Amino acid sequence: MAAGWKTDSWRSKTALQTPDYPDAAALRSVEDTLANYPPLVFAGEARQLRADLARVANGEAFLLQGGDCAESFAEFSANNIRDTFKVMLQMAIVLTFGAALPIVKVGRMAGQFAKPRSAGTEVIDGVELPSYRGDIINGIDFSGAARTPDPNRMVSAYHQASATLNLLRAFAGGGLADVHQVHRWNLDFVKGSPQAERYRELADRLTEALDFMSACGVTPESVPQLAETDLYTSHEALLLWYEQALTRQDSLSGDWYDCSAHMLWIGDRTRQLDGAHVEFLRGVENPIGMKCGPSLDPDDMLRLIDALNPANDPGRLTLIARMGHDNVEKHLPPLIRAVEREGKRVVWSSDPMHGNTIKADSGYKTRPFDRILAEVRSFFDVHAAEGTHAGGVHFEMTGQDVTECLGGAQEIRDEDLSARYHTHCDPRLNATQALELAFLLSETLKLSRNGEPRQLKAAS
Ligand code: PEP
Ligand code: CO
Repeated sequence: MAAGWKTDSWRSKTALQTPDYPDAAALRSVEDTLANYPPLVFAGEARQLRADLARVANGEAFLLQGGDCAESFAEFSANNIRDTFKVMLQMAIVLTFGAALPIVKVGRMAGQFAKPRSAGTEVIDGVELPSYRGDIINGIDFSGAARTPDPNRMVSAYHQASATLNLLRAFAGGGLADVHQVHRWNLDFVKGSPQAERYRELADRLTEALDFMSACGVTPESVPQLAETDLYTSHEALLLWYEQALTRQDSLSGDWYDCSAHMLWIGDRTRQLDGAHVEFLRGVENPIGMKCGPSLDPDDMLRLIDALNPANDPGRLTLIARMGHDNVEKHLPPLIRAVEREGKRVVWSSDPMHGNTIKADSGYKTRPFDRILAEVRSFFDVHAAEGTHAGGVHFEMTGQDVTECLGGAQEIRDEDLSARYHTHCDPRLNATQALELAFLLSETLKLSRNGEPRQLKAAS
Protein backbone atom coordinates (compact mmCIF):
# COMPACT_ATOMS: atom_id res chain seq x y z
CA MET A 1 0.00 0.00 0.00
CA ALA A 2 1.17 3.56 -0.74
CA ALA A 3 3.16 4.87 2.25
CA GLY A 4 1.14 6.91 4.73
CA TRP A 5 -2.00 6.61 2.62
CA LYS A 6 -5.47 6.06 4.03
CA THR A 7 -8.83 6.36 2.31
CA ASP A 8 -9.26 9.68 4.11
CA SER A 9 -5.67 11.02 4.13
CA TRP A 10 -6.75 13.53 1.45
CA ARG A 11 -8.76 15.37 4.09
CA SER A 12 -5.68 16.95 5.64
CA LYS A 13 -4.66 18.43 2.25
CA THR A 14 -6.02 21.34 0.27
CA ALA A 15 -8.85 20.23 -2.03
CA LEU A 16 -9.40 22.80 -4.76
CA GLN A 17 -12.68 22.92 -6.69
CA THR A 18 -14.77 21.35 -3.94
CA PRO A 19 -18.12 22.66 -2.71
CA ASP A 20 -18.89 24.06 0.73
CA TYR A 21 -21.69 21.89 2.03
CA PRO A 22 -23.75 23.96 4.47
CA ASP A 23 -25.06 20.90 6.35
CA ALA A 24 -22.18 18.78 7.70
CA ALA A 25 -24.52 16.22 9.28
CA ALA A 26 -26.33 15.63 5.98
CA LEU A 27 -22.94 15.15 4.27
CA ARG A 28 -21.86 12.55 6.86
CA SER A 29 -25.12 10.69 6.49
CA VAL A 30 -24.73 10.50 2.70
CA GLU A 31 -21.15 9.27 3.08
CA ASP A 32 -22.39 6.48 5.37
CA THR A 33 -25.13 5.56 2.93
CA LEU A 34 -22.78 5.33 -0.03
CA ALA A 35 -20.15 3.45 1.95
CA ASN A 36 -22.75 0.73 2.53
CA TYR A 37 -23.90 0.52 -1.09
CA PRO A 38 -22.42 -2.09 -3.42
CA PRO A 39 -19.38 -1.06 -5.44
CA LEU A 40 -20.18 -0.08 -9.05
CA VAL A 41 -17.23 -1.89 -10.56
CA PHE A 42 -15.15 -4.86 -9.47
CA ALA A 43 -11.42 -4.59 -8.73
CA GLY A 44 -10.68 -7.38 -11.22
CA GLU A 45 -12.17 -5.25 -14.01
CA ALA A 46 -9.95 -2.29 -13.09
CA ARG A 47 -6.96 -4.64 -13.19
CA GLN A 48 -8.07 -5.85 -16.62
CA LEU A 49 -8.14 -2.24 -17.86
CA ARG A 50 -4.65 -1.71 -16.43
CA ALA A 51 -3.46 -4.68 -18.44
CA ASP A 52 -5.15 -3.29 -21.56
CA LEU A 53 -3.56 0.12 -20.98
CA ALA A 54 -0.16 -1.50 -20.47
CA ARG A 55 -0.54 -2.76 -24.05
CA VAL A 56 -1.27 0.82 -25.13
CA ALA A 57 1.86 2.04 -23.32
CA ASN A 58 3.84 -0.63 -25.18
CA GLY A 59 2.50 0.52 -28.54
CA GLU A 60 0.35 -2.60 -29.03
CA ALA A 61 -3.09 -0.99 -28.65
CA PHE A 62 -4.85 2.36 -28.95
CA LEU A 63 -7.06 4.11 -26.38
CA LEU A 64 -10.40 5.71 -27.26
CA GLN A 65 -11.90 7.60 -24.33
CA GLY A 66 -15.04 9.65 -24.79
CA GLY A 67 -18.43 10.77 -23.64
CA ASP A 68 -20.20 13.71 -22.07
CA CYS A 69 -18.41 16.66 -20.57
CA ALA A 70 -20.95 16.41 -17.77
CA GLU A 71 -23.63 13.76 -17.43
CA SER A 72 -26.85 15.26 -16.13
CA PHE A 73 -29.96 14.05 -14.37
CA ALA A 74 -32.14 15.69 -17.06
CA GLU A 75 -30.49 13.93 -20.03
CA PHE A 76 -30.53 10.49 -18.44
CA SER A 77 -32.25 8.06 -20.81
CA ALA A 78 -31.72 4.65 -22.37
CA ASN A 79 -31.59 6.20 -25.83
CA ASN A 80 -28.80 8.60 -24.91
CA ILE A 81 -26.73 5.82 -23.38
CA ARG A 82 -27.36 3.52 -26.35
CA ASP A 83 -26.48 6.18 -28.90
CA THR A 84 -23.22 7.19 -27.22
CA PHE A 85 -22.35 3.51 -26.97
CA LYS A 86 -23.06 3.03 -30.69
CA VAL A 87 -20.88 5.98 -31.72
CA MET A 88 -18.04 4.68 -29.57
CA LEU A 89 -18.33 1.30 -31.30
CA GLN A 90 -18.41 2.92 -34.73
CA MET A 91 -15.37 5.05 -33.96
CA ALA A 92 -13.56 2.01 -32.59
CA ILE A 93 -14.22 0.04 -35.79
CA VAL A 94 -13.01 2.92 -37.96
CA LEU A 95 -9.88 3.35 -35.82
CA THR A 96 -9.17 -0.39 -35.84
CA PHE A 97 -8.95 -0.24 -39.62
CA GLY A 98 -6.53 2.70 -39.45
CA ALA A 99 -4.33 1.57 -36.58
CA ALA A 100 -4.49 -2.18 -37.17
CA LEU A 101 -4.40 -2.38 -33.40
CA PRO A 102 -6.99 -3.32 -30.77
CA ILE A 103 -8.90 -0.30 -29.47
CA VAL A 104 -9.35 0.03 -25.71
CA LYS A 105 -12.72 1.74 -25.17
CA VAL A 106 -13.32 3.89 -22.09
CA GLY A 107 -16.50 5.97 -21.67
CA ARG A 108 -16.78 9.27 -19.87
CA MET A 109 -19.95 7.67 -18.60
CA ALA A 110 -21.65 6.28 -15.49
CA GLY A 111 -20.19 8.83 -13.05
CA GLN A 112 -18.91 11.86 -14.98
CA PHE A 113 -20.92 14.39 -12.97
CA ALA A 114 -18.62 16.75 -11.05
CA LYS A 115 -17.12 19.79 -12.80
CA PRO A 116 -14.25 22.13 -11.95
CA ARG A 117 -15.11 25.75 -12.76
CA SER A 118 -12.98 28.75 -13.61
CA ALA A 119 -14.90 30.95 -11.14
CA GLY A 120 -16.48 30.04 -7.82
CA THR A 121 -19.47 32.28 -8.37
CA GLU A 122 -21.57 33.54 -11.26
CA VAL A 123 -23.17 36.99 -11.48
CA ILE A 124 -26.32 37.61 -13.52
CA ASP A 125 -28.10 40.99 -13.41
CA GLY A 126 -26.21 41.93 -10.26
CA VAL A 127 -27.15 38.68 -8.46
CA GLU A 128 -24.19 36.56 -7.35
CA LEU A 129 -24.63 32.81 -6.75
CA PRO A 130 -22.30 29.80 -6.49
CA SER A 131 -21.30 28.43 -9.91
CA TYR A 132 -22.93 25.27 -11.19
CA ARG A 133 -20.52 22.39 -10.41
CA GLY A 134 -22.31 19.44 -11.97
CA ASP A 135 -25.50 17.61 -11.02
CA ILE A 136 -23.74 15.56 -8.34
CA ILE A 137 -23.13 18.83 -6.45
CA ASN A 138 -25.79 21.44 -7.26
CA GLY A 139 -28.43 22.40 -9.84
CA ILE A 140 -27.91 24.34 -13.06
CA ASP A 141 -30.89 26.72 -12.55
CA PHE A 142 -29.84 30.19 -11.50
CA SER A 143 -31.54 30.28 -8.08
CA GLY A 144 -30.19 30.23 -4.56
CA ALA A 145 -31.96 26.93 -3.84
CA ALA A 146 -30.63 25.15 -6.93
CA ARG A 147 -27.08 26.40 -6.54
CA THR A 148 -26.73 25.41 -2.88
CA PRO A 149 -24.58 22.23 -2.75
CA ASP A 150 -26.73 19.29 -1.65
CA PRO A 151 -24.98 16.05 -0.60
CA ASN A 152 -28.11 13.98 -1.38
CA ARG A 153 -27.30 14.57 -5.05
CA MET A 154 -24.42 12.10 -4.60
CA VAL A 155 -26.95 9.35 -3.89
CA SER A 156 -28.95 10.24 -7.03
CA ALA A 157 -25.73 10.25 -9.05
CA TYR A 158 -24.79 6.83 -7.67
CA HIS A 159 -28.15 5.37 -8.74
CA GLN A 160 -27.89 6.93 -12.20
CA ALA A 161 -24.33 5.62 -12.59
CA SER A 162 -25.50 2.19 -11.48
CA ALA A 163 -28.37 2.08 -14.00
CA THR A 164 -26.13 3.43 -16.77
CA LEU A 165 -23.48 0.82 -16.08
CA ASN A 166 -26.11 -1.91 -16.01
CA LEU A 167 -27.30 -0.95 -19.48
CA LEU A 168 -23.73 -0.61 -20.81
CA ARG A 169 -22.91 -4.08 -19.55
CA ALA A 170 -26.06 -5.44 -21.21
CA PHE A 171 -25.19 -3.76 -24.51
CA ALA A 172 -21.57 -4.90 -24.35
CA GLY A 173 -22.36 -8.54 -23.66
CA GLY A 174 -25.92 -9.00 -24.87
CA GLY A 175 -25.63 -8.79 -28.63
CA LEU A 176 -25.62 -5.09 -29.56
CA ALA A 177 -21.81 -5.06 -29.67
CA ASP A 178 -21.67 -8.22 -31.80
CA VAL A 179 -19.43 -7.22 -34.69
CA HIS A 180 -21.95 -8.82 -37.08
CA GLN A 181 -24.26 -5.93 -36.08
CA VAL A 182 -21.80 -3.37 -37.45
CA HIS A 183 -24.42 -1.95 -39.87
CA ARG A 184 -26.91 -1.42 -37.06
CA TRP A 185 -24.60 0.94 -35.15
CA ASN A 186 -25.29 3.72 -37.62
CA LEU A 187 -27.57 6.36 -36.14
CA ASP A 188 -30.60 7.57 -38.07
CA PHE A 189 -29.69 11.23 -38.23
CA VAL A 190 -26.18 10.44 -39.49
CA LYS A 191 -27.63 8.50 -42.44
CA GLY A 192 -27.32 10.38 -45.71
CA SER A 193 -24.11 12.12 -44.62
CA PRO A 194 -20.77 11.41 -46.36
CA GLN A 195 -19.57 9.82 -43.08
CA ALA A 196 -22.48 7.39 -43.09
CA GLU A 197 -21.67 6.38 -46.67
CA ARG A 198 -18.00 5.81 -45.80
CA TYR A 199 -19.03 3.90 -42.74
CA ARG A 200 -21.39 1.71 -44.80
CA GLU A 201 -18.58 0.84 -47.20
CA LEU A 202 -16.30 -0.06 -44.33
CA ALA A 203 -19.04 -2.11 -42.66
CA ASP A 204 -19.62 -3.96 -45.97
CA ARG A 205 -15.94 -4.86 -46.13
CA LEU A 206 -16.04 -6.04 -42.55
CA THR A 207 -19.15 -8.14 -43.18
CA GLU A 208 -17.45 -9.75 -46.16
CA ALA A 209 -14.43 -10.59 -44.03
CA LEU A 210 -16.70 -12.02 -41.31
CA ASP A 211 -18.50 -14.20 -43.89
CA PHE A 212 -15.12 -15.48 -45.04
CA MET A 213 -14.05 -16.18 -41.45
CA SER A 214 -17.30 -17.93 -40.73
CA ALA A 215 -16.78 -20.17 -43.77
CA CYS A 216 -13.42 -21.05 -42.21
CA GLY A 217 -15.13 -21.93 -38.94
CA VAL A 218 -14.37 -18.69 -37.05
CA THR A 219 -17.77 -17.83 -35.57
CA PRO A 220 -19.05 -16.27 -32.32
CA GLU A 221 -19.50 -19.84 -31.08
CA SER A 222 -15.80 -20.61 -31.55
CA VAL A 223 -14.54 -17.07 -30.78
CA PRO A 224 -16.91 -15.41 -28.27
CA GLN A 225 -14.97 -12.10 -28.50
CA LEU A 226 -16.65 -11.52 -31.87
CA ALA A 227 -20.02 -11.17 -30.16
CA GLU A 228 -19.10 -8.92 -27.24
CA THR A 229 -16.87 -6.04 -26.25
CA ASP A 230 -15.41 -4.33 -23.20
CA LEU A 231 -16.48 -0.78 -22.54
CA TYR A 232 -14.89 0.58 -19.40
CA THR A 233 -16.11 3.59 -17.43
CA SER A 234 -14.22 6.65 -16.24
CA HIS A 235 -14.71 10.10 -14.75
CA GLU A 236 -12.79 12.93 -13.15
CA ALA A 237 -12.19 12.07 -9.49
CA LEU A 238 -13.12 15.54 -8.31
CA LEU A 239 -15.68 15.09 -5.55
CA LEU A 240 -13.57 13.20 -3.05
CA TRP A 241 -16.33 12.46 -0.52
CA TYR A 242 -18.08 10.43 -3.23
CA GLU A 243 -14.85 8.73 -4.32
CA GLN A 244 -13.82 7.84 -0.79
CA ALA A 245 -17.24 6.39 0.02
CA LEU A 246 -16.97 4.02 -2.96
CA THR A 247 -13.38 2.98 -2.23
CA ARG A 248 -13.09 -0.64 -1.12
CA GLN A 249 -10.35 -3.07 -0.19
CA ASP A 250 -10.14 -5.91 -2.71
CA SER A 251 -10.47 -9.22 -0.91
CA LEU A 252 -8.25 -11.02 -3.45
CA SER A 253 -5.22 -8.70 -3.41
CA GLY A 254 -5.75 -6.61 -0.27
CA ASP A 255 -5.32 -3.52 -2.45
CA TRP A 256 -7.64 -0.50 -2.41
CA TYR A 257 -9.74 0.34 -5.45
CA ASP A 258 -12.03 3.27 -6.10
CA CYS A 259 -15.02 1.23 -7.23
CA SER A 260 -16.98 4.21 -8.62
CA ALA A 261 -15.41 3.58 -12.08
CA HIS A 262 -12.71 1.55 -13.75
CA MET A 263 -10.50 4.55 -14.47
CA LEU A 264 -10.30 7.91 -12.68
CA TRP A 265 -8.48 11.00 -13.77
CA ILE A 266 -7.14 14.17 -12.13
CA GLY A 267 -8.16 17.42 -13.81
CA ASP A 268 -5.79 20.10 -15.00
CA ARG A 269 -6.94 22.38 -12.17
CA THR A 270 -6.50 19.89 -9.31
CA ARG A 271 -3.15 18.23 -10.05
CA GLN A 272 -1.15 19.94 -7.28
CA LEU A 273 1.54 17.58 -5.94
CA ASP A 274 0.61 18.38 -2.31
CA GLY A 275 -3.12 18.63 -3.01
CA ALA A 276 -5.98 16.40 -1.90
CA HIS A 277 -6.74 14.91 -5.33
CA VAL A 278 -3.22 13.61 -5.92
CA GLU A 279 -3.15 12.33 -2.34
CA PHE A 280 -6.37 10.37 -2.80
CA LEU A 281 -5.55 8.87 -6.19
CA ARG A 282 -2.01 7.80 -5.35
CA GLY A 283 -3.44 5.19 -2.97
CA VAL A 284 -6.02 3.47 -5.16
CA GLU A 285 -4.90 0.82 -7.63
CA ASN A 286 -7.19 1.78 -10.54
CA PRO A 287 -5.67 3.02 -13.76
CA ILE A 288 -5.28 6.78 -13.34
CA GLY A 289 -5.31 9.62 -15.84
CA MET A 290 -3.78 13.06 -15.40
CA LYS A 291 -4.66 16.04 -17.57
CA CYS A 292 -1.59 17.92 -18.75
CA GLY A 293 -2.24 21.51 -19.77
CA PRO A 294 0.24 24.12 -21.06
CA SER A 295 1.11 25.25 -17.52
CA LEU A 296 2.58 21.86 -16.55
CA ASP A 297 6.33 22.11 -16.00
CA PRO A 298 8.33 18.95 -16.96
CA ASP A 299 9.98 18.67 -13.53
CA ASP A 300 6.66 19.01 -11.75
CA MET A 301 5.26 16.37 -14.09
CA LEU A 302 8.07 13.97 -13.15
CA ARG A 303 7.34 14.51 -9.45
CA LEU A 304 3.67 13.79 -10.09
CA ILE A 305 4.55 10.65 -12.05
CA ASP A 306 6.67 9.44 -9.12
CA ALA A 307 3.85 10.13 -6.68
CA LEU A 308 1.18 8.44 -8.79
CA ASN A 309 3.18 5.59 -10.30
CA PRO A 310 6.18 4.85 -8.06
CA ALA A 311 6.45 1.27 -9.41
CA ASN A 312 6.63 2.60 -13.01
CA ASP A 313 3.89 0.20 -14.07
CA PRO A 314 3.04 0.76 -17.74
CA GLY A 315 -0.79 0.53 -17.41
CA ARG A 316 -1.11 2.70 -14.31
CA LEU A 317 -0.82 6.23 -15.63
CA THR A 318 -2.26 7.91 -18.72
CA LEU A 319 -1.03 11.42 -19.42
CA ILE A 320 -3.78 13.29 -21.23
CA ALA A 321 -2.32 16.29 -23.06
CA ARG A 322 -4.75 19.19 -23.60
CA MET A 323 -2.60 22.03 -24.83
CA GLY A 324 -4.65 23.93 -27.41
CA HIS A 325 -4.21 23.48 -31.16
CA ASP A 326 -1.37 26.01 -31.49
CA ASN A 327 0.41 25.02 -28.27
CA VAL A 328 1.12 21.33 -28.79
CA GLU A 329 4.40 21.74 -30.64
CA LYS A 330 5.71 24.09 -27.98
CA HIS A 331 4.59 22.34 -24.79
CA LEU A 332 4.36 18.63 -25.55
CA PRO A 333 7.95 17.81 -26.68
CA PRO A 334 9.57 18.88 -23.36
CA LEU A 335 7.13 16.65 -21.46
CA ILE A 336 7.73 13.65 -23.73
CA ARG A 337 11.51 14.15 -23.55
CA ALA A 338 11.44 14.27 -19.76
CA VAL A 339 9.43 11.03 -19.66
CA GLU A 340 11.82 9.34 -22.08
CA ARG A 341 14.94 10.62 -20.33
CA GLU A 342 13.77 9.24 -17.00
CA GLY A 343 12.50 5.97 -18.47
CA LYS A 344 8.96 6.51 -17.25
CA ARG A 345 6.30 4.18 -18.64
CA VAL A 346 3.05 5.96 -19.43
CA VAL A 347 0.24 6.08 -21.94
CA TRP A 348 0.10 9.32 -23.92
CA SER A 349 -3.38 10.44 -24.92
CA SER A 350 -4.62 13.62 -26.60
CA ASP A 351 -7.61 15.60 -25.34
CA PRO A 352 -8.09 18.08 -28.20
CA MET A 353 -11.21 19.57 -26.62
CA HIS A 354 -10.25 21.49 -23.48
CA GLY A 355 -7.51 23.69 -24.94
CA ASN A 356 -9.75 24.76 -27.82
CA THR A 357 -12.81 26.21 -26.14
CA ILE A 358 -13.80 29.66 -27.38
CA LYS A 359 -16.74 31.98 -26.95
CA ALA A 360 -18.64 32.44 -30.23
CA ASP A 361 -20.01 35.87 -31.21
CA SER A 362 -23.45 34.50 -30.29
CA GLY A 363 -22.17 34.07 -26.73
CA TYR A 364 -22.16 30.24 -26.81
CA LYS A 365 -19.11 28.36 -25.57
CA THR A 366 -17.95 26.34 -28.56
CA ARG A 367 -15.03 24.52 -30.20
CA PRO A 368 -14.12 24.67 -33.89
CA PHE A 369 -13.85 21.22 -35.47
CA ASP A 370 -10.72 22.27 -37.41
CA ARG A 371 -8.88 23.17 -34.22
CA ILE A 372 -9.84 19.89 -32.57
CA LEU A 373 -8.49 18.06 -35.61
CA ALA A 374 -5.38 20.25 -35.71
CA GLU A 375 -4.57 19.49 -32.07
CA VAL A 376 -4.82 15.71 -32.56
CA ARG A 377 -2.72 15.89 -35.71
CA SER A 378 -0.02 17.92 -33.95
CA PHE A 379 -0.08 15.37 -31.16
CA PHE A 380 0.58 12.59 -33.67
CA ASP A 381 3.28 14.61 -35.43
CA VAL A 382 5.12 15.38 -32.21
CA HIS A 383 5.08 11.73 -31.20
CA ALA A 384 6.29 10.68 -34.65
CA ALA A 385 9.16 13.17 -34.38
CA GLU A 386 10.07 11.98 -30.86
CA GLY A 387 9.75 8.30 -31.81
CA THR A 388 7.11 7.66 -29.13
CA HIS A 389 3.66 6.05 -29.32
CA ALA A 390 0.70 8.40 -29.68
CA GLY A 391 -1.44 6.10 -27.57
CA GLY A 392 -4.93 7.49 -27.60
CA VAL A 393 -7.53 10.20 -27.80
CA HIS A 394 -9.99 11.69 -25.32
CA PHE A 395 -13.13 13.36 -26.68
CA GLU A 396 -16.21 15.10 -25.37
CA MET A 397 -18.92 13.69 -27.60
CA THR A 398 -22.47 12.42 -27.68
CA GLY A 399 -24.59 10.14 -29.83
CA GLN A 400 -27.17 12.92 -30.10
CA ASP A 401 -27.62 15.35 -32.98
CA VAL A 402 -26.51 18.41 -31.03
CA THR A 403 -25.12 21.68 -32.42
CA GLU A 404 -22.39 22.56 -29.94
CA CYS A 405 -19.08 22.46 -31.88
CA LEU A 406 -18.56 24.59 -35.01
CA GLY A 407 -17.74 23.18 -38.43
CA GLY A 408 -17.15 19.66 -39.63
CA ALA A 409 -18.69 18.33 -42.83
CA GLN A 410 -22.11 19.54 -41.59
CA GLU A 411 -20.61 23.04 -41.49
CA ILE A 412 -22.27 24.04 -38.24
CA ARG A 413 -22.10 27.85 -38.02
CA ASP A 414 -22.35 30.24 -35.11
CA GLU A 415 -26.00 30.97 -35.97
CA ASP A 416 -26.76 27.22 -35.84
CA LEU A 417 -25.44 26.70 -32.29
CA SER A 418 -28.69 27.70 -30.60
CA ALA A 419 -30.71 25.03 -32.48
CA ARG A 420 -29.73 22.07 -30.28
CA TYR A 421 -27.23 23.27 -27.67
CA HIS A 422 -27.92 20.85 -24.81
CA THR A 423 -24.66 20.40 -22.91
CA HIS A 424 -24.59 21.13 -19.18
CA CYS A 425 -20.99 22.21 -19.43
CA ASP A 426 -18.57 22.07 -22.38
CA PRO A 427 -19.54 21.71 -26.08
CA ARG A 428 -19.48 18.14 -27.41
CA LEU A 429 -18.90 16.66 -30.85
CA ASN A 430 -22.16 15.28 -32.22
CA ALA A 431 -22.27 11.77 -33.67
CA THR A 432 -21.61 12.94 -37.24
CA GLN A 433 -18.63 15.06 -36.18
CA ALA A 434 -17.29 12.26 -33.97
CA LEU A 435 -17.44 9.79 -36.83
CA GLU A 436 -15.84 12.27 -39.22
CA LEU A 437 -13.01 12.80 -36.76
CA ALA A 438 -12.56 9.04 -36.41
CA PHE A 439 -12.16 8.71 -40.20
CA LEU A 440 -9.64 11.55 -40.35
CA LEU A 441 -7.74 10.10 -37.42
CA SER A 442 -7.82 6.68 -38.97
CA GLU A 443 -5.99 8.09 -42.01
CA THR A 444 -3.36 9.63 -39.75
CA LEU A 445 -2.96 6.31 -37.93
CA LYS A 446 -2.59 4.48 -41.21
CA LEU A 447 0.09 6.90 -42.39
CA SER A 448 2.07 6.59 -39.19
CA ARG A 449 1.76 2.80 -39.45
CA ASN A 450 3.20 2.87 -42.96
CA GLY A 451 5.86 5.39 -41.99
CA GLU A 452 4.69 7.73 -44.78
CA PRO A 453 4.98 11.50 -44.48
CA ARG A 454 1.89 13.02 -42.89
CA GLN A 455 0.08 16.03 -44.11
CA LEU A 456 -0.55 18.54 -41.38
CA LYS A 457 -3.72 20.48 -41.93
CA ALA A 458 -3.30 24.09 -40.90
CA ALA A 459 -5.57 25.25 -38.09
CA SER A 460 -8.20 27.81 -38.92
C1 PEP B 1 -12.91 17.83 -18.43
O1 PEP B 1 -12.33 16.85 -18.87
O2 PEP B 1 -14.15 17.99 -18.53
C2 PEP B 1 -12.10 18.93 -17.84
C3 PEP B 1 -12.61 19.82 -17.02
O3 PEP B 1 -10.84 18.91 -18.30
P1 PEP B 1 -9.51 19.69 -17.83
O4 PEP B 1 -9.27 19.27 -16.42
O5 PEP B 1 -8.50 19.18 -18.79
O6 PEP B 1 -9.78 21.16 -17.99
CO1 CO C 1 -15.21 19.35 -20.30
